[in-house]
Amino acid sequence: MEVKEAIYKRQSIRGFLSKSVDNELIIEILKAAIQAPSACNIQPWEFIVIKGKAKENLVKALLSAYKKEKRPSRTQASMPEKYKNRMKQLFEAIKTFAEKTPNFDIWQGSLSFYNAPVVIIVAKHKEIAYLRLLDIGLAIQNLMLMAQNLGLSTCPIGLTLRYEDIIKETLSLPDTLELVLTIALGYPDNSLYINKFRATKIDLKECVHWIE
Ligand SMILES: Cc1cc2nc3c(=O)[nH]c(=O)nc-3n(C[C@H](O)[C@H](O)[C@H](O)COP(=O)(O)O)c2cc1C
Repeated sequence: MEVKEAIYKRQSIRGFLSKSVDNELIIEILKAAIQAPSACNIQPWEFIVIKGKAKENLVKALLSAYKKEKRPSRTQASMPEKYKNRMKQLFEAIKTFAEKTPNFDIWQGSLSFYNAPVVIIVAKHKEIAYLRLLDIGLAIQNLMLMAQNLGLSTCPIGLTLRYEDIIKETLSLPDTLELVLTIALGYPDNSLYINKFRATKIDLKECVHWIE
């Protein structure tokens, strides 16, 4: 698959088949992730691959924590109106698709990784500076594009980070790790209406500023 095709075909998928993903494919995807550039070649990323019983236990723990407490976002405190509007637009647009998909709920869906058979937790050492999230983001995009190239789909899931303590406790992760993002990985269930949803992208002129 051409890079261009992978870039334009990738989209967040919110419903997966139970079909398992071969470890060789996961390894190929992670090898692509770590090809990303990073400042001074620090390569500040850590990946934790969760499958099988460990994934089931994690989902159980997350859903049970959610039922006790719907935790607020830690990152959307304040932002200029134009960005807030894009977020509103996304939620309005996705609502129609969600309503037409039986048993779909974005909160519980996110916390159960939309039933994906594989979850990749992306993390960094807590002493790695916040700015290095930039490098980790580059690796995550490589990961998602390679998955697309291999016929797999992904959904980056940040909502889970509200329950970082539960994830760390359930998986016995060390205190030195700071979670950056969780990624659902698997084969898309194309029969689900929610997977027909396409997020709109802004017009270039809204974000590109030419100075000549
Ligand atoms: C950092 C990050 C966190 C995200 N968290 C969630 C999430 O918790 N649940 C979810 O359904 N989608 C989540 N998404 C997916 C976004 O909603 C999606 O990327 C955006 O709407 C654009 O759509 P696209 O990925 O199909 O291009 C997240 C994406 C990113 C990059």
